Order: sequence, then structure tokens, then C-alpha cells
Amino acid sequence: MKPTTLADLSQLKKEKRKFATITAYDASFAHLFAEQGISVMLIGDSLGMTIQGFDSTLPVTIEDISYHTRSVRAGAPRAFLIADMPFMSYATPEQSFDNAAELMRSGANMVKIEGGDWLCDTVKMLTERAVPVCGHLGLTPQSVNVLGGYKVQGRDESSAQKLLDDAIALEKAGMQLLVLECVPTTLAQRITEALDIPVIGIGAGNMTDGQILVMHDALGITARPPKFAKDFLKETGNIRDAIRLYIEQVESGAYPDQTHSFN
Ligand code: KIV
Repeated sequence: MKPTTLADLSQLKKEKRKFATITAYDASFAHLFAEQGISVMLIGDSLGMTIQGFDSTLPVTIEDISYHTRSVRAGAPRAFLIADMPFMSYATPEQSFDNAAELMRSGANMVKIEGGDWLCDTVKMLTERAVPVCGHLGLTPQSVNVLGGYKVQGRDESSAQKLLDDAIALEKAGMQLLVLECVPTTLAQRITEALDIPVIGIGAGNMTDGQILVMHDALGITARPPKFAKDFLKETGNIRDAIRLYIEQVESGAYPDQTHSFN
């Protein structure tokens, strides 16, 4: 099998074929996910909560993400890996260069950063220096203290318009993929249709080009899962079938349904 690339994801968007992605933090799960057909994985800073047991993603460091990226790369040599830039690791362009370089050297194909149009210069500079950038808009967990909790974003017209404007500005700056978290389905659809690049949703309804789930949510491990999460293991009884069911339901548009979306 040949390695998955951004061009493959763009082609899927053109063909209106939905794709499933998932977070991965270690070689064993990365291998299992790849074996079942997941070719895009995120080494998310959610590992601060799922692996390290903190109550937010803020304590995660670049060394943590780098360590887990190496592990995931070892388990899934041909997958397209997106590595999260953790809190305060891209506050200045200089910091972004060093930290993104560390993640790319660890095996990432792309880095992900959270935030709106204030990141346009960073996106442009990283892209020019051969680091592809995935944006992350909507509920941005690194900003939990500013947002006042893990809440659905873009519910009123002005905040929805701001998210759409941010997405367009970031795409113009060179962003090549976008994660949209916890926004109403109609807004996610507007943004997905407005952008040429693929948009991956989480808690954003079933009108985006792709979906992502935190693996602990998809496998029923999370103690208090968010509304949009679905325990695929409960329905299937084994992990391999659970992942295959997740892929099937994303590709057919059956997941997320109304009960796992915000309207
Ligand atoms: O860190 C993470 O797992 C993420 C997903 C929630 C998209 O950013």
C-alpha cells in the first residue's frame, strides 16, 4: 500500500467521498487502525486527558507529542499523521518553526494548530518552510479558560460568520486541512462548502468531508463522553469490528446522526 497524502484527501473531497480518521497515541493501536483501513491519524494533545489523566490539554508538551508521534509512526508507517502543536508551542513564529520541525522529524506529515485569523502569518511561514498545516476552529480545547468551558461554538450569526471568515482567511494563508469541533451542523456545512480543502468534523454533524473521534470515545473508554461521541465497541464487542463499523458509518453518512450532532 502506498502512503496516504494530502492529495488523496483532496481527491476524496472532490469525489464527495467521506473519510474516517481517529486519534492514535501508540504503535499497537496505530497498527490496528491502519489494518482496519484508517489512513489518517491525529496524535492529539487530547493525550493530556486520555493518556496522562489531566483535566485539560494545557500541560501537554512538545516532547510528549513528539514521543507519541514516533510511536504511532512505528505502528503505521504509511498512514498520514497529523501531530498537534500543544498549548503555547506556536505563540510566536520562531517557536512554531522549532516545534513544528521537531514533530516533522518525529514522523508527522502535518502539524495542527488551534485558532483563527491571528494564525495566518504562522500558517504562511510554516507552509513556505515545507510544513503543511491543519487548522482547528470551533471549540478549541487549548482556549478552554478563555471560552469558559467545553461549549458548542458558532451558535449565533456573528460568531458563525467569524468562524467562516477565519476558515477562509486561513485557507488563503495556506492551511491545507481543517478540523472543526463542536459547531452546529448547518455552520459546518457552510464552512465545508466554502473551502476547497477537506474539512474534518468532530461534533460538527455529518456534512463535513471527514470525521475524527478521540479513540477513547469511539471505544467507550471515556467516563463521561461528549454528546457527539459514539461507543462503537458496545455494538460490536471487539475492537477491530468497532473500528470497521466506525469507518462504514462515517463513509455512508450514518454517523454522526442527529442524536450525535448539534443543531
Ligand atoms: O487533541 C485532539 O484529540 C483533537 C481532536 C479532538 C480533534 O484535537
